Amino acid sequence: MRLQWVLAVLVLVVPLVTAAAPDVALETWDPVQNTSEPYWINTAEFAVSSYNKHEKKNLVFESVVKGKTRYEVTGLYIVLVIKVKDGSLPSANYDVGVRDKYAGPNPLDLIYFRRRPKFW
Ligand SMILES: *[C@@H]1O[C@H](CO)[C@@H](O)[C@H](O)[C@H]1NC(C)=O
Repeated sequence: MRLQWVLAVLVLVVPLVTAAAPDVALETWDPVQNTSEPYWINTAEFAVSSYNKHEKKNLVFESVVKGKTRYEVTGLYIVLVIKVKDGSLPSANYDVGVRDKYAGPNPLDLIYFRRRPKFW
């Protein structure tokens, strides 16, 4: 009888708790307030130069469109949309993910770098 009560309470309460704590715990992103700040520019330039080096490309960084960050155990996870020029092609937006580990000679890691689908 006791166990049934416990189970009944769990069945009732667990969905309430998970529904009441929506994305707050998982989605604690802070928006980038000022995309002109040197920190974001440096991060974006790092992403472009890393990508160029690994992919043997010659993309040219233009600007940071927007971004957000999230604190993780391994450092600050930075997600940016950046505007990039590829030769004579029109500028295009790219999604980049960078981690700032804060320490060491190479604190930044490029996690991903991909062209944003058009009209997205
Ligand atoms: C954004 O940052 C740039 C570079 O640090 C600065 O010149 C500019 O005044 C800032 N803009 C705002 C609205 O704070």
